[in-house]
Amino acid sequence: MSFEVRPEQPADRDDVLRVIAAAFDDHGEVVADIWATLGHHKRAGLVVEQGGHVLGHVGLSRAWVDARPALVEVWVLSPLSVVPERQNQGIGTALVAAAVETARESGVPVLFLEGSPFYYGARGFERADRRGFLPAALERSPGASFQCVCFDGLEDWMRGQLIYPDTWWTHDSAGLRDPRLAELEERFDSLE
Ligand SMILES: CC(C)(COP(=O)(O)OP(=O)(O)OC[C@H]1O[C@@H](n2cnc3c(N)ncnc32)[C@H](O)[C@@H]1OP(=O)(O)O)[C@@H](O)C(=O)NCCC(=O)NCCS
Repeated sequence: MSFEVRPEQPADRDDVLRVIAAAFDDHGEVVADIWATLGHHKRAGLVVEQGGHVLGHVGLSRAWVDARPALVEVWVLSPLSVVPERQNQGIGTALVAAAVETARESGVPVLFLEGSPFYYGARGFERADRRGFLPAALERSPGASFQCVCFDGLEDWMRGQLIYPDTWWTHDSAGLRDPRLAELEERFDSLE
């Protein structure tokens, strides 16, 4: 099934926050609050809507790569949310594809995320450490989960650590913490 993806509008705010909270379950309120408080770091939001209901959302916000000559603005794809009752129907895939194209068209050199390599690896993302990038939480991101899509504007000198705006840190949402960190390291072991 194909889904129409459109830009998030200010009027979508409450619906989007509800979709994020529902998708992330126990962690939903924290993740919704990240999107609500990213403020001027937000770059774009995209939604899938059907019959007046928002079914899915993806957020794009800025971060930086701390390269030797300069900070480089890059984008981060997060959060990606589909309402539980409509998961596994292709909505997430449509949102990821549209997010990658939106980032590409913006001229930003790299789009990063932290997430399942099984999901995002099949949707155009590759391991970011193999491209010379370090995750924001150095000790707390399984190698295979720190991923990126590189665009034409990427130059050789643009290598270094990903730096998140403070919103990710104030929500303790850079990288992962045990026991989830250990669980995912084990799950992604086969990919190392
Ligand atoms: C992850 C999520 C966005 C996927 O959206 P979706 O619309 O359900 O996914 P799609 O229909 O496009 O793709 C379905 C495929 O993704 C897989 N998938 C779903 N969630 C996954 C996950 N967390 N990890 C790995 N694969 C996952 C399904 O098994 C299915 O695989 P298949 O195509 O081989 O059968 C959605 O399940 C969701 O909102 N989950 C809760 C929030 C979350 O975990 N967000 C991502 C954080 S990085």
